[in-house]
Amino acid sequence: MPGPAHVLVFRELPPEQLARIQAQHRVTMANPRRPEQRAAFEAALPTAHGLIGSSYQLTPELLDRAPHLRVVSSISVGVDNYPLAYLRGRGIALCHTPGVLTETTADLIFALLLATSRRLVELAQLVRSGQWTSNIGPSLYGHDVHGKTVGILGMGRIGQALARRAALGFGMPVLYHSRQPVPPETLGPLAPLARHVPRDELLARADFVVCTLALTEDTRASLDAAAFAAMKPGAIFINGSRGAIVDEVALLAALDSGHLRAAGLDVFAAEPLPLDSPLRTHPQVVPLPHAGSATHETRQAMAVLATDNLLSALAGRLPAGRVANA
Ligand code: DGY
Repeated sequence: MPGPAHVLVFRELPPEQLARIQAQHRVTMANPRRPEQRAAFEAALPTAHGLIGSSYQLTPELLDRAPHLRVVSSISVGVDNYPLAYLRGRGIALCHTPGVLTETTADLIFALLLATSRRLVELAQLVRSGQWTSNIGPSLYGHDVHGKTVGILGMGRIGQALARRAALGFGMPVLYHSRQPVPPETLGPLAPLARHVPRDELLARADFVVCTLALTEDTRASLDAAAFAAMKPGAIFINGSRGAIVDEVALLAALDSGHLRAAGLDVFAAEPLPLDSPLRTHPQVVPLPHAGSATHETRQAMAVLATDNLLSALAGRLPAGRVANA
């Protein structure tokens, strides 16, 4: 069993998980997103054997400064902040937290379908501002969610969890597009209710187009002006995966022209969303602060799994959350 290692914690960890790491290893805590901690982060790299954290892009140039690194344990399911080929080339294990956030993230994405279609934010604002002075009329009515067609781009764990909510809970026909159809045995009760279709057909037929794709060089900016134009007039676009998959200028144009009814966005190309982004205050946008997995229970489960992954890798065992192709 290898001896104590040096672990660089680059995002806040719950105290119990930090204590588990400290019980076995030397720990430096430094979050490079905080300017006052950046120097400590950089100073720890040359001796670090393990990194644990999230929401920070680790470039090859940065990782070149960590010659002893054996594991990067991300407290996230998405691994778009890491250079996969580089890590593979150096034999550094990359771990993430799939599974534990699936249902929570699908809950939030489904909440965005409801919030946009039923205009929840606008209606709550009407009440809060004291402008609810008579029965609301057609200018404030929303549109039904149940029975409408949902089109899911990407049909991984979160896409399937969303499809279950839509099909089994709200009677919504489900179309999905992914590289391969999901085998019926994986879809279970969804199998007769969710249909794999070409992307164009999905865009043309869905009342809600929901993005659950991973961010890769193939998907970056793939929801562009042509994709929005191909959506049905009055469609609602929801993004619960990564903002960089969307051309935000094209999305704004599709909203402003009235082609799209609304957008529910939990993720943006730049996060936190810059104050001057028109998406922040657009009346047809429900913007959320990348909160898909942000519940007490799920963030705790992610921290536990990421800590397990880190400790396993440092002990020379195969971590449960090792990214398969990294
Ligand atoms: C994830 O786990 O990838 C979430 O988007 C949080 O970053």
